[in-house]
Amino acid sequence: MRKSSQRLNNASPARTSTPQLLLALETSCDETAIAVLRDRELLVSEVASQIAEHAKFGGVVPEVASRNHLLHAPRLLERAMRDAKIDIAQVDAFAATSGPGLASSLMIGASIAKGLAIGFGKPYLAINHLEGHLLSPFFGEAEIKPNVSLVASGGHTMSTFVRNIGDYEIIGRTVDDAAGEAFDKIAKLLGLGYPGGPEIEKHAPNGDPSRFDLPRSMPDSENFSFSGLKTAVRYLLPTLRGDFLADVCASVQAAIVDVLVSKTIDAAKQHDVDLVTISGGVSCNRELRKQMGEACRHHRLELKTADPWLCTDNGAMIAFAAMSKLQSGLSSRVTEEIDPSLALAENWRTASAERRRNSA
Ligand code: KG4
Ligand code: ZN
Repeated sequence: MRKSSQRLNNASPARTSTPQLLLALETSCDETAIAVLRDRELLVSEVASQIAEHAKFGGVVPEVASRNHLLHAPRLLERAMRDAKIDIAQVDAFAATSGPGLASSLMIGASIAKGLAIGFGKPYLAINHLEGHLLSPFFGEAEIKPNVSLVASGGHTMSTFVRNIGDYEIIGRTVDDAAGEAFDKIAKLLGLGYPGGPEIEKHAPNGDPSRFDLPRSMPDSENFSFSGLKTAVRYLLPTLRGDFLADVCASVQAAIVDVLVSKTIDAAKQHDVDLVTISGGVSCNRELRKQMGEACRHHRLELKTADPWLCTDNGAMIAFAAMSKLQSGLSSRVTEEIDPSLALAENWRTASAERRRNSA
């Protein structure tokens, strides 16, 4: 059992027969999101995006994000109760993302969930944002089959060997930029809007993915690196004349997709699983889905993806991770703090602690 979890008093790991209502908040970055589940059935999922508020600053401003969470959360909470047709006093457990993310943003969702849990005398569940993404391809299902999971988002790129819920071993992670961050930064260099992934994806189908030979970094490692790709594009752009936007977008997308697919397949073979899952905002990318699907078929692996609305940040994935834990008899202490650099697995915590010691 992870340190952050405790068994509920008298709780048994077996599922109870009365349906349980769970409310979850996700405020780790610039999306305020709330969802309500009845058992594993989604009653409501509300997301208030702050993209427009941050676009004028060219990135997420933590103070603006936390102020907006404070404004949006009570309104979303009321709407969620209305749309789910329930009274908040009926909710059996409250959950929130407790990390990783922006401290001042995490604090808002976690404080609201803890306050409600204390006020109504119900369990509180602190959920790791990455675990929310990682479990999202199983949304609504009762069983988590062993798999190799690729989480590719704006903040993280990580492959994980998933044995079961809560039993994770990090295989590889980015040593610099995340895949989504590379899409976002390159889109900015190209004068495209934020978030950059969907913008690059929009132009890519009209371009030639082989016109520019962009780097595929760290081919022999389980880790990922995308900052070299961004630098290559930065040096390439001033040399180009005429119509090049679609070709650059197609070549960038091809480079990122190539790396994500080949490393995920290698990891799946190495860990001898027959299931691959992909999640996180970048997994909305149609070319990634197509190529991962083809590679999985070729290697006789099953591929499981979440619906696109479940791939970008949302409350439903946090609620689902929380419900899975609650129904295994787990909850968190209300004294549990948020942790902006919360690790998904012990082997990652050890590795990052080691790196911090070495670089100190
Ligand atoms: O999971 P997410 O919503 O937030 C984080 O946890 O970071 O991921 C957002 C990231 C952004 O970097 C965005 O550019 C990327 O996901 N993204 C995409 C696509 N849709 C969103 N990247 C490539 N293709 C897409 N269609
Ligand atoms: Zn995310």
